Amino acid sequence: MKTPIYDFLLQYTEKKPVRMHMPGHKGRFGPPLLQTAAELDLTEIPGADSLFEADGIIAESEKNAAALYGTAYTFYSCAGSTLCIQTMLLLMKQEGRAVIAARNVHRAFLNACVLLDLPVQWVYPRSSDSILSGVYAPEDFAAALEQLRRPACIYITSPDYLGHKADIGALAEICQKYHAKLLVDNAHGAHLAFLPEHEHPIQLGADYCCDSAHKMLSGFTGTAYLHVRNELDAAPERVQGAMAMFASTSPSYIQLASLDWCNRELASPLFREQLLSVADQLQELKCIFSDRYRFADGDPFHFTIAAAESGCDGRELSQFLEKRGIVAEYADPYHVVLLCSAATDREEIQALEQALADFVPEKQAVPVRFQLPRPETVCGIREAALAPQEIIPVEASSGRICAAVKVSCPPAVPIVLSGERIDSACIAVCRGYGISEICVVQ
Ligand SMILES: Cc1ncc(COP(=O)(O)O)c(C=O)c1O
Repeated sequence: MKTPIYDFLLQYTEKKPVRMHMPGHKGRFGPPLLQTAAELDLTEIPGADSLFEADGIIAESEKNAAALYGTAYTFYSCAGSTLCIQTMLLLMKQEGRAVIAARNVHRAFLNACVLLDLPVQWVYPRSSDSILSGVYAPEDFAAALEQLRRPACIYITSPDYLGHKADIGALAEICQKYHAKLLVDNAHGAHLAFLPEHEHPIQLGADYCCDSAHKMLSGFTGTAYLHVRNELDAAPERVQGAMAMFASTSPSYIQLASLDWCNRELASPLFREQLLSVADQLQELKCIFSDRYRFADGDPFHFTIAAAESGCDGRELSQFLEKRGIVAEYADPYHVVLLCSAATDREEIQALEQALADFVPEKQAVPVRFQLPRPETVCGIREAALAPQEIIPVEASSGRICAAVKVSCPPAVPIVLSGERIDSACIAVCRGYGISEICVVQ
């Protein structure tokens, strides 16, 4: 597959022109390891196209990505899935659609609701053992749509932070029945389109979805795709206009070139082979350790150890792995998330196998199952988030109204939402996740 953006940057650099344009480093930058990056770091010069009015090399590259994902349109983001989430929600707001969302959203969703002044109707999981994940019943979304009886959209995160996948196919059917749109936060699932199961949200019927290219693919940090399944849903100019509302007018060409190069990688048979091979190796590892560790179900590349259920503390396990040179994506007392991709090599998986075999827990497991609390809603998300606020100890916050979600990233799933009255259940969950301060309305 062609790489028009990367090729353009390379050709321009090779010509060694006098750069009387931005950026100010002029292609020369001090630290030797950043020098090549500086040479390729361009701006919208003639021939370089323009991200939100793309009709040249960027448009060509985005079309390549669309062909790989089987979408009507795929748009590049240099501001992560966060920008794509903002865009999807703005498109829904423009269409006057109500938002029904599964509660384990990333804080990017909540921030977008603040910016867009969007009220949300929440659907809670039927079962969960963590605030990060849960099993949602499609019927609960259908019931919400039935009750609403107005144009709406469903928003769900899948895979979630632990790798659990929602029933996107069932949700897509429900959305069709109620003429609703299905939006999927697939930040963790860009690779799913290339597995034999074809479980990418677009393949399963989602109308819009965002994929972070930097989480599970080789895209540089901050890169993402916004996919639109059906060309009748939104004209490209409308989507680009919505993206431009939130994004910088100076997207990074280095990021764009990495997305461009990803197309080439994704199109190669070798990529699919590597993906399958890593998935098989990880599955084998789960079999080897089936007596000793419990693993969360879901996407094979989220190698998630259910630490508490395995009789150990996730943070202790993660610290042990770190001493062995293996750095986890995320750990709390209950889970350790080890993210792998097609680029994970056999030696790395062997190192993990050895470390897991050698680990002897010293701390007691914390066998608590936390669920997302359901506190009373006192005012709107935007009203609370933009009100005068103060930070106080969580232990002293009972009865106060949450102003902003203060959860670290990762995992950035808000325990209590802006506009909700903090109660003892919220405080217990915050304590369980080691959160000691909270931002409340003054
Ligand atoms: C589920 C989920 N959605 C959205 C995001 C935001 O993605 P990005 O960092 O690409 O903006 C994240 C980031 O961790 C995430 O985990």
